[in-house]
Amino acid sequence: MSARVTKAVIPAAGLGTRFLPATKATPKEMLPVVDKPAIQYVVEEAARAGLDDVLVVIGRNKSSLEDHFDRAYELEDKLEGDDGKRELLDRVRDSTRLATVHYVRQQDPRGLGHAVSCAERHVGREPFAVLLGDDLIDERDELLSRMIEVQAEHGGCVLALMEVPREQISLYGCASVETTATDGVVRITGLVEKPAVDEAPSNLALIGRYVLAPEIFDALAETAPGRGGEIQITDAIARLTDPAVAGGPVHGVVFRGRRYDTGDKGEYLRAIVQIASDRADLGPQFRSWLADFAATRLPLGDPDEPIRP
Ligand code: UTP
Repeated sequence: MSARVTKAVIPAAGLGTRFLPATKATPKEMLPVVDKPAIQYVVEEAARAGLDDVLVVIGRNKSSLEDHFDRAYELEDKLEGDDGKRELLDRVRDSTRLATVHYVRQQDPRGLGHAVSCAERHVGREPFAVLLGDDLIDERDELLSRMIEVQAEHGGCVLALMEVPREQISLYGCASVETTATDGVVRITGLVEKPAVDEAPSNLALIGRYVLAPEIFDALAETAPGRGGEIQITDAIARLTDPAVAGGPVHGVVFRGRRYDTGDKGEYLRAIVQIASDRADLGPQFRSWLADFAATRLPLGDPDEPIRP
C-alpha cells in the first residue's frame, strides 16, 4: 500500500504564447475567470481534495502569482476600515487561507515534464498530484478525489482521461486502455503525445490532472526531449506503463464532467460565460442579457461578418 497523497504540484511556468500579448508580463494562470485568476480555482480544487500543501512551479514574470496567495496588508487595512467592504475583505483573504503555497522556479521552460521534475526535492518519495494551472474542473464535478481513491486502491499512477471527438485527439496526449471491473476506471497500457488522428489508439485524451508515483522523477530523468523539443510528461509516464518498470500500474479515471482549458482563447471565453451564468450573484442578470444577445445579435449568416451595434 503506497503513502497517502498530501501534496499538489501546479506547473505554471509556461510562456502562454497563445495568449500574447496579454501574457507578455502576466502569467496566463493569472488571467481572470470572472473575478478570480484561473489558478485560484485550481488551488481551491486541490484544497477540496484534501491537498493543502501546494507547490507552484513558476517561471519569469510570476511575481503577481506569488503576491496573489500572500497577504495584502495595505489593501486589507483599507477594506477592514470600511463596514460595507467586509465581504470583499473575506474574498481577498480567501486566496491566502486555502493552502500552504510554496514556489519553485523553472529556470527555462523546457516542457511540462521538466516543470514536474523541478518538484522532486519538495515532493520527496511520496505519490503526489499534478494539476495544470490553466485547466479548470467545475467544482460540481468530482475528479481529483476519485483519482486519489483509485491510486490508494491500485498504487502507481492515475491519470484523468476525457473522451474527445476523434478529429481533436491530435491536440492531446492519448491513451491505449483496457477496461477494468470498475465503471469509469481503465488500465492504461500505452500513451502517445499528440498522435495523428489515424494513428491514435483511442479517443481518450489526457487532461490536466495526474496522480503520480515518485518513480516518475526517475523516468523524467531518463526522458529525452520529445515533441516540440520539450520534455513531455506523457513520454515519462508511458515508461511506467511497462510492468517491468517500478512506478506502475497506470490507471485512468474517465471524466465526464465540465472542464475548461483556459489556456485556449475559445475555451477561456466559454469558461467565463458558463461560470458567470451559473453564479448566484451574476447569473440571473447575465443569463437574461445572454439570451437577448443570442436571440437578437448573433448573425446566422456569414460568421466572418462583424456584429453591428
Ligand atoms: P501549455 O503547453 O498549455 O502551456 O502547458 P504554455 O506552453 O505556456 O502555452 P502556449 O501553448 O505557449 O500558449 C500546460 C501547463 O504546463 C505549464 C504551463 O504553465 C501550463 O500550466 N508549463 C508548460 C510549465 O510549467 N513549464 C513548461 O516548460 C511548459
